[in-house]
Order: sequence, then structure tokens, then C-alpha cells
Amino acid sequence: MADESAEGVRHGVLGHLPPWPRKALNNSVIAMEQAYRQRKGLPLLTDADIEALKTGQPMPWEAGGTPAPAGASTAPTAAPAAPTAAPAAPVVPAGPVSTVAAATGGNGNISEEVAKWVAQGKKWSKSAIAAEQARRNRKGLPALTEAEITALLGEPSAAAPAPAPVAAAAATPAARPPASAVAASAAASVARAGESTKYVGTPAVGTSRAAAAGGVAAVGPEDSEVNRGRRRMVWASVAAFLTAWFLAFFRFFLPRTLFEPATSFKIGYPEEYGLGVDTKWQQKYRIWVDRTPDRLFVIYARCTHLGCTPDWKPSENKFKCPCHGSGYDSEGINFEGPAPRPMDRAHVERAPDGQILVDVSKLYQWPKGQPSQFNDDGAYLSVS
Ligand code: FES
Repeated sequence: MADESAEGVRHGVLGHLPPWPRKALNNSVIAMEQAYRQRKGLPLLTDADIEALKTGQPMPWEAGGTPAPAGASTAPTAAPAAPTAAPAAPVVPAGPVSTVAAATGGNGNISEEVAKWVAQGKKWSKSAIAAEQARRNRKGLPALTEAEITALLGEPSAAAPAPAPVAAAAATPAARPPASAVAASAAASVARAGESTKYVGTPAVGTSRAAAAGGVAAVGPEDSEVNRGRRRMVWASVAAFLTAWFLAFFRFFLPRTLFEPATSFKIGYPEEYGLGVDTKWQQKYRIWVDRTPDRLFVIYARCTHLGCTPDWKPSENKFKCPCHGSGYDSEGINFEGPAPRPMDRAHVERAPDGQILVDVSKLYQWPKGQPSQFNDDGAYLSVS
């Protein structure tokens, strides 16, 4: 589809575009075409051309004649933008704008070409106008006047454009402001709008800069729902990160605390325990419940040697410390190993509801060579 012949490039109208008739082109293809034209110094596509390419219509200069056959792509006839118009075209080397304006008369200083663009009803962007100015400046064509710029922007003006051909002022090229001055004016206008179009080199194909340089109002990802969703996701990620960071920073100022289990707790009713050792509370409270025919007491599961937790050996009817081998009988009385005394017993009492209330913060001991506390009140509960 590309027209890369020397002939096609020299005429510079179609560039790489396929000749009419052709299908509608998408933004990417149009942007690539603009970039190609900019690289080769060919006339850039105008907004009207782009609109026609997007909608699958002939470009204005193509539509000016008959829908061109394929062969016409390399020999444009009355194309306004063609730098080398066919002999039949009523133009002079100065360019189509002044020529047409001079030939047709005018409306203010708006050329016929611009009037036609305005009549098509599409508002130009400032970047597109800047690109058009750059093209005219490069080609030595008269620059767009302030009135033309205003008309293309669709802004209200005293010199509002009309589809009619152009004013006498436009017929005299000398009366038109110099291209550089108008270009500077347009650039200032664009800069005021914050849409600077000063680019160095050839913008990358398909980028917004390439689009702007080529006069395409918007090329690339459009502001679709998908893009808005992506944007929201990015912002949500940023917000989540900042929130996590703030919470971590705030946590730094909080005290480091350990929450120990309660020292006082209920372990049910005495009737729930049979004779012997019950180990069901060992993991949770580090105690064993021991019941004899007349007493119920609670042994605190800590070896009196160095504090290990002994194991209950039901087959041997004794507690055995895994650390250094101390042995205790079923009531926690030491009889072997380095343990210096029996294991301690926790305070027990009846709660108002009749359950056994244990308090491990208060222990009863039997130190070696001293009286035993195991018969003190609170060291056991009497049961029958
Ligand atoms: S800690 Fe139990 S025997 Fe040493």
C-alpha cells in the first residue's frame, strides 16, 4: 500500500497513503504517515485530510476532482496542498492560499482554503494550527492570519469566517503579515494555552507529540473507560502504599507490650475430676489437677531444679523432667534427680458458682528442710 516511489515522494501528496478508493485508516496509521511526511519534508495532513482518512472518505483535495483512480495518487491535479500543482491548477508558486484568495476575492483576510476548512465545521486544535503554520513556514507559504486562526479555533471574532471566498486583503500577499510574525503569534497563542509544540527532532511514531506535530488532535490511547480504570488502580495503589507507610510510622510510637495470660481462672467443678492426675490444662495454664480421696489440689507444672516442664508418665505413675531427669511422684513430691523440693501448688478456692477457681500468682511451696505449705488454706480443696 505504501507509495514509496520517487514519483510519489516528489509530489508529496499521498506519501505512504494508499490511493483513493481506500478503506478508513486508524489513528496509528495516520500518525505514522504524519511522521513520515515530517521526516521527508512533505506537506502534513490537515485536520480535514485526517477526518476524511478516518471516515474512509476522499481527502478534500481528492474530492475536489473525481474520486481518483489508483493511478492518480502520484499525479495530483488541483490539490490545494500540493507543492507542485498540475499545470491546469490556477495557482502560482506562492501557494494555494494567496492564489485562491486573489482569484476569488475575500472575506476579511481569510483565504478560501481556510474558509473551506471552517465550513466543514471541524474545530482545529491549537497544536494543529501550529503544525499548519510550521508547514506553511517551511514551504514559504503565507502564514495563517489571526483571523484565520480565530476562525479555525471556532472562537467568536469580529472577522468571523464565512464559507465565502476571501477578502481583497488576502489577494495581496504583501498585505498579509509575514509568516514568521504570524507563526510567532500562533506559537505565543499556543504557549499561552500551555500546549507548547516546540519539539526537537522527529517525534516517535504513534506518540502524542507526533500527533501534535502532525496536526492530529488525539492519537494513541483515548480516554476510555479502561484507561480511567487503570488510572484509578494506580492511584489506589499509591494510596494503599502511603497508608501502609503511615501506619508503620505510627506503630513506631506505640509501646511494645506483651500480653500474658490471666493468672486467675476457673477449671470447672470438682466432680469433673477423677482420682489421680488430670493433664488437660497443661498446655493452656501449665497446671495439673491432682485428686486424692479427700483433697483436690493443683500442681504448677514447673520443675524446681531449673524450671523445665516435666512430663506425666501414667505408666510409671510419676512426673519426669526431660531436662536433667528429676522425678516426682503423682503428688509432685520429688524423689530422684537434682530437684531440690516438690513442685509448687497453686491457690485454689470455690468460686461463687461452685467451680474451682485457680490462681497461679499465689503458690504454695515445701522448701527443703522447712515446713510444708501444702496444708495451708487455699493449697487444696476438701472433697469427699
Ligand atoms: S530442670 Fe528439671 S531436672 Fe533440671
